Amino acid sequence: MEITNLPRHVGIIMDGNGRWAKRRHRPRSFGHSAGMDAMIRIVKRANEWDIRYITVYALSTENLKNRPREELDELFDLLRKYFSNNVKELHARGAKVRVIGDKAPLPDDVRRLLEDGEKNSPPDGKFTLTFAINYGGRAEIVRAAEVLRENGKNITEESLSSELYTEGLPEPDFIIRTGGEVRLSNFLLWQSAYAELYFTPVLFPDFSPKEFDKALKEYSRRTRRFGGI
Ligand code: FPP
Repeated sequence: MEITNLPRHVGIIMDGNGRWAKRRHRPRSFGHSAGMDAMIRIVKRANEWDIRYITVYALSTENLKNRPREELDELFDLLRKYFSNNVKELHARGAKVRVIGDKAPLPDDVRRLLEDGEKNSPPDGKFTLTFAINYGGRAEIVRAAEVLRENGKNITEESLSSELYTEGLPEPDFIIRTGGEVRLSNFLLWQSAYAELYFTPVLFPDFSPKEFDKALKEYSRRTRRFGGI
């Protein structure tokens, strides 16, 4: 089947790294590292399809609160590695990098690397890669409402949207969750009101470009039906 209708903005909940590692009798960090490699491959594939906006859930507020220190340190190490080594190449390929979430509780050097990745992005990038890090959808909505209240503004859908971390990004058309759970886990709650959702049991490190294409085919089929009789 041809893919006739591509999403403009794809969100990905990259779940299943821990189980992937466990099946191999390896530490969870091994799964996260494989997850990072999978993410790099998917972003390349999305570029080949000319998908302009990709948002990946790299760390939820709940992860930051509830994961053991050691695992968080390993995730921070991965972020250090990615933002020191891969982001320049991304910029060169025309990517705008954006980070959504509360960066304040992150280690200083990680926060600086993320901010540099955002700041050094080309102004008119070909695509936008957004990392949700210490991100939670509910907290994001509350924060936006607080800003409006402090500034004495009316709360409308438009004004609230404009104070979300995602201000300026189109709403996601398609949300993919790997790893078999069938829920959003606080990811882009407001923004995904009309998104098509796709759940697959494939664990994220195994989520190959071929699996991504399969998801896109499903999206294409759904939206074609939506417009039909
Ligand atoms: C959930 O899998 C995944 C995470 C908490 C982290 C996702 C991070 C990556 C894929 C690496 C991304 C790297 C960069 C640099 C952005 P899980 O650990 O909850 O898996 P489980 O449900 O099998 O335990």
